[in-house]
Amino acid sequence: MKAFIFDLDGVIVDTAKYHFKSWKIIGKKLGFELTKTQNEFLKGISREESLDKILNWGGISIDRMDKKKYMKEKNLIYKELINNVDKMDILPGVNKLIDFAAIKGIPIALGSASKNAHGILKKLGIQNKFKVIIDGNSTSKTKPHPEVFLKGAQMLGVNPKEVIVFEDSVAGVKAANTAKMVSVGICASGKIENARFNFKSLDDIPLEFFENVI
Ligand code: BG6
Ligand code: MG
Repeated sequence: MKAFIFDLDGVIVDTAKYHFKSWKIIGKKLGFELTKTQNEFLKGISREESLDKILNWGGISIDRMDKKKYMKEKNLIYKELINNVDKMDILPGVNKLIDFAAIKGIPIALGSASKNAHGILKKLGIQNKFKVIIDGNSTSKTKPHPEVFLKGAQMLGVNPKEVIVFEDSVAGVKAANTAKMVSVGICASGKIENARFNFKSLDDIPLEFFENVI
């Protein structure tokens, strides 16, 4: 294994709960009650695809202008919620793993669907730890399409087969598997479907795991 690619929301920082909270508010405005189970399917996909799913689940149809309005509003609510996010919000095990990668000379990349990724990494103060950052602004296809991870591997100059991807979403794990990378699911409750390995958090991965796969 020659490189690590990290998803952002739900892996590096617990912003997944703020995406859920803001979509819940937008859902309510549309007369739809978004459930936790449904929210699992919003993880890893883009803002527009998330709204499309909500509209679809609710059997709601709105025009393009309104769609734009709700996406903008969702992002405003979300940005307000993440306003105070800082390095204290970095999830357990992240810094340890980043340090481990640095010691071992393993380059790391970010592979996120979020258009807020740069801003969030900046807030966390770990932007410069990533050799490559691929986000919602630098991809045209979103997870489960593998583009985000393949682009990451290409920019890191490594073979996709030599990459470990850390993901908390079903869509992201699917993307990593399609890219022929080693998918590691991160989920506090249960497992991510089809992930090659599953752990409750990055902190739960024993360093021997890496010694074995590297
Ligand atoms: C992903 C999240 O990382 O980014 C999704 O898992 C989110 O829930 C997507 O919809 C897009 O994020 P943003 O910040 O561009 O709205
Ligand atoms: Mg995620």
